[in-house]
Amino acid sequence: MGRVAYVNGRFARHAEAAVHIEDRGYQFSDGIYEVWAVFDGKLVDSAGHFARLKRSLDELRIAQPMSEAALRIVLAQMVRKNRVRDGMLYLQVTRGVAPRDHPFPVPAPAPAVVITAKSVDHAAAEARAAVGAAVITVPENRWGRCDIKTVGLLPNVLAKQAAREAGAVEAWFVDDLGLVTEGASSNAWIVDQSGALRTRDIQANILRGVTRSRLLALAAELGLPLEERPFTPDEAKLAKEAFITGAGTLVLPIVRIDDSKVGDGIPGPMAKRLRRLYIDHARREADVQ
Ligand code: PDD
Repeated sequence: MGRVAYVNGRFARHAEAAVHIEDRGYQFSDGIYEVWAVFDGKLVDSAGHFARLKRSLDELRIAQPMSEAALRIVLAQMVRKNRVRDGMLYLQVTRGVAPRDHPFPVPAPAPAVVITAKSVDHAAAEARAAVGAAVITVPENRWGRCDIKTVGLLPNVLAKQAAREAGAVEAWFVDDLGLVTEGASSNAWIVDQSGALRTRDIQANILRGVTRSRLLALAAELGLPLEERPFTPDEAKLAKEAFITGAGTLVLPIVRIDDSKVGDGIPGPMAKRLRRLYIDHARREADVQ
C-alpha cells in the first residue's frame, strides 16, 4: 500500500490514517466504493468509474462529497504522492459519522471520504495471466442490489476465502436458476462451444463492471460474436475458454472451474487476445476520454 492516504480532506501518512469509530461505513457498511486501474500514472476508463460512483451514491442517497473535477485533482495527487506508475486507486465514501442509529442521520453528516493508492507489479500479473487461474462455484447469497458498489462485501469475502482455500483466485456465484451471476470481485465470461463471447446481462443482479462494458465495446469493434446471456457452471466447464474481468484483474484467463479443466487447461487464444486488447486500450486511452 502507498505511503499517503487521503482522509476527509487531508493527506495523511498511511500508517496513521484513521476514521471515526462511529463512521457508518464501519458500523453499518453504509457506504460505497470505486476502484480505478492506473496505467502510466493515468486512470483507466475513468469516465465509466466516475459515472458508476455517482450512481452508487445516488442510489443510496449519499451526497456527492465533491465535484468530479475536484475528485480528479485529488486522485491525481494521490497517484503523484504515492509515486504510482501502474497500480490501483481505491475510493470509499460513507454516509459519514453519527451516533449509531439505523435510519439516515438528521441533519445529514458530511460524507466521509477515504482514498488509498497502491502500485501493481505488472510483470507478476502478466506471469499469472500466462498460466491462467482457477475459480470455484458457490451459491449466490448476496442481497438484491449488487448493481450498487457497496462496501457491504461479507458474502464476497467468504466466497473469496473459500476460493483461496481451494487453491483458486475467484469464486463464481450461482443463482437459484443455476446460472452464474459474476465473481466475488470480477465479472465472469466464457467463449462458448459456438465460439461466442458470453457474459451475464446487466438486467441480472450483478455489478455493471466498467471493464466488462469496455471489453464488450472493444470486442464489438472487432466484430467478435457477443452474447450478453447467462451460462451454467456446466456450460462454463464445457466451454472453449473462460476468463474474468475487473479493474484489478483486467482480463484474466480461467483454466479450471471447480474440478474441471477448461479446454486444454491453458489460457485460450481469445482470452489472451482480449487481455492484450484491453491493456493496449488502457495504455493508449488512460484519461483520454
Ligand atoms: N471489484 N463484480 C464485482 C462483484 C466486483 O467487485 C467487481 C470489481 C467487478 C468488476 O468491475 P470493474 O470492471 O468495474 O472493476 C465485478 C473491484 C476491483 C474490487 O472489489 O476490488
